[in-house]
Amino acid sequence: MKTKTLIQSIPKVELHLHIEGTLEPELMWRLAKKHELSLPFDSIQEIANAYQFDNLQSFLDLYYQGAAVLIDEDDFFELMWAYFLRCKEQNIVHTEIMFDPQTHTHRGIDYSVFMPGFLRAKAQAESELGITSCLILSFLRHLSQEDALLTLAQAEPYYDAIDAVGLDSSELGNPPDKFIDVFAKAKTLGFKRVAHAGEEGPPEYIWSALNDLDVHRIDHGVRCIEDPKLMAHLVANKMPLTVCPQSNLKLCVVNDMSEHNILDLLEQGVMVTVNSDDPSYFGGYLNQNYQALDTHLAMSDEQFIQLVKNSFEASFLSDKLKQKWIKEVDKLNHSLSHN
Ligand code: ADE
Ligand code: ZN
Repeated sequence: MKTKTLIQSIPKVELHLHIEGTLEPELMWRLAKKHELSLPFDSIQEIANAYQFDNLQSFLDLYYQGAAVLIDEDDFFELMWAYFLRCKEQNIVHTEIMFDPQTHTHRGIDYSVFMPGFLRAKAQAESELGITSCLILSFLRHLSQEDALLTLAQAEPYYDAIDAVGLDSSELGNPPDKFIDVFAKAKTLGFKRVAHAGEEGPPEYIWSALNDLDVHRIDHGVRCIEDPKLMAHLVANKMPLTVCPQSNLKLCVVNDMSEHNILDLLEQGVMVTVNSDDPSYFGGYLNQNYQALDTHLAMSDEQFIQLVKNSFEASFLSDKLKQKWIKEVDKLNHSLSHN
C-alpha cells in the first residue's frame, strides 16, 4: 500500500470544489455569532454530527442553510482564504473553484459583496502562497433558465475575473438541456463550460451536457459506465470527468468505497480526475480522497500519478504550464521512488 508521503509530496490540482462546501463547522459557528444569527444547532459538534446524508438533496438542504452565515465581504474572504491554506497544506498548486451566486443573491447578498472577498483571497493566494486559481460561476439547476440568464448578466462587472460557467444543485428532473440558452450565451461571451451530470442522473444527462451545453468537462459523470457508447465517446474525445470519491460515498451514489468505479474508468481509458467537491461536509480534502482510493481500492503508484497528471491535463491552465507541472510530477515521482 502506498505511503501517505507520495500523495502528500506530489504537486496536485483540484478541479471540482464548491467554495460554499468548504465552510467548516467552526467558521459557520463563529460567523453565526458575529452576525447574531441563530443556527438550528447548539454546538460546533452538533453541526458536524448533522452531516449524515441519504442522497444529494438531503445534503443540499443543509448546505444552502449553512451558507446563510456568509454576509459581508470579509466572510467570503475568510471562507476562500481558509480553503487556500488547506491547499497549501495539501500541496495543491492550482485549483478551479466553483461558486453559486444565486445562493447569495437570492438572500440579498450581491456580487459586489462576495466577488471582492473572493478576488482578495485569490490574489493573496497567488502572491503569498504561490497557488494559482480559476473561478467557475455555477448556476443552480433547480431554478429556472431565466434566473440563470439574469445571474450571468449580473456578473458583468466581474467577467474578466471569471473563467467558466458550471451547473450544479439537484440533478434529477433538471437535465442539462434546460440550460441551453444560458450556456450558449456564456460561450458567446468567451466562458469555458462545465456541468454536473451523471452523479445521480442517468447517462442521457451526460450526453445532454456534451451535446447541448458543449462542455469542456463533466463534473462527476460516474454513471457513464452504464452506457458503452458513451464510454467510447468519452475515451475517444479525452473528455475529463471530475470524480469526487468521498462525496459519492457520503451521498450514497456508491454503497462502499471498495465499490467505486473510478479506477475501472481509468483503466478503460477515461480521463478521470480526483476531487473533493464539498470537503467540509464529506469528511476530507483532496489528499483524503486519494488516500481513500489507496485504502479501499489498492490504487497503485502508477494509477495515482496518472490521476494527478490527468488533473493538470484537464485544467484550464495554459499548455505551457500544464507541461511544466507534468514534468515536475514525473521528476519528483522518479526521485521519490528511487529513495
Ligand atoms: N453543489 C454542491 N455540491 C454538489 C454536488 N455534489 N452535486 C450537485 N450540486 C452540488
Ligand atoms: Zn459538485
